[in-house]
Amino acid sequence: MKIGFLSDLHITHNADMIEQVLDIMIEATSKAKIDKLFLVGDTANNYKMTLEFVDMLAKLGIDTYTVFGNHEYWSIDYEKAQRLNHDRYINGKTIELDNNNVVIGIDGFFDYSFVTEVDNVYTRQISTDKNQLTQIGIDSSDLDRNRIKNYEETFNAMEELLLKQLEIHKNKNITLITHYVPSEKFVLYNNDNVWTSINAFMGSKRYQEMAESYGVKKVIFGHTHSQFNETINGVDYHCNPIGYKSFEFDETFRERVKSRLKVFEI
Ligand SMILES: [Fe+2]
Ligand SMILES: [Fe+2]
Repeated sequence: MKIGFLSDLHITHNADMIEQVLDIMIEATSKAKIDKLFLVGDTANNYKMTLEFVDMLAKLGIDTYTVFGNHEYWSIDYEKAQRLNHDRYINGKTIELDNNNVVIGIDGFFDYSFVTEVDNVYTRQISTDKNQLTQIGIDSSDLDRNRIKNYEETFNAMEELLLKQLEIHKNKNITLITHYVPSEKFVLYNNDNVWTSINAFMGSKRYQEMAESYGVKKVIFGHTHSQFNETINGVDYHCNPIGYKSFEFDETFRERVKSRLKVFEI
């Protein structure tokens, strides 16, 4: 069985019509002979479009599942997202690939830990006060557009959902998909204090800790538009995002999807 992963398609930005992207997806996934496709968030700026896209792919024979990224949360709050009754939206759910292999989905969120719990020459130059960090996020990242109301409660609720699934499936080969960054090893700290501050909203150290303590085999993530494929403490991490055409890549969208589609055989 071949499993494919893509993140940060950003179709609202990258294509004029959803149909264009469908053609490109069908070509890429059929060439790679994918049996199941997982989208790891930031597919569109509206969750309805993301779900519509997933349904269209499924109808065309690509068995597709998704979690939401921060861009889906521009149009929905977490309470409403939790009440969505959609089989292909897998926040806090598990897809069993066979008797031994599962994919656990969690949208993921941030808990400021990449700033408040990481001590380096750059974090020492900035405030670790969560209210001050939040204001920087509102002024300079998309935090003001995010509809999630209570950050701490949402992070904790998702952690609880994730731990429940990890506990149920701990004896299986687990692939975890989450939009947010699972380790500070994948965020960039530098002398730009605003840049370093907004790392607070990139993800959480907890995801790496949970992956290691439950023997998770692979973590597939997005959110950062940089590419990573590496192993840390026995866990394989993969981030192969599409990103924004025009200012993050200059190949065609078709070429980008083909080159960033991550495929594993189980
Ligand atoms: Fe993104
Ligand atoms: Fe994102």
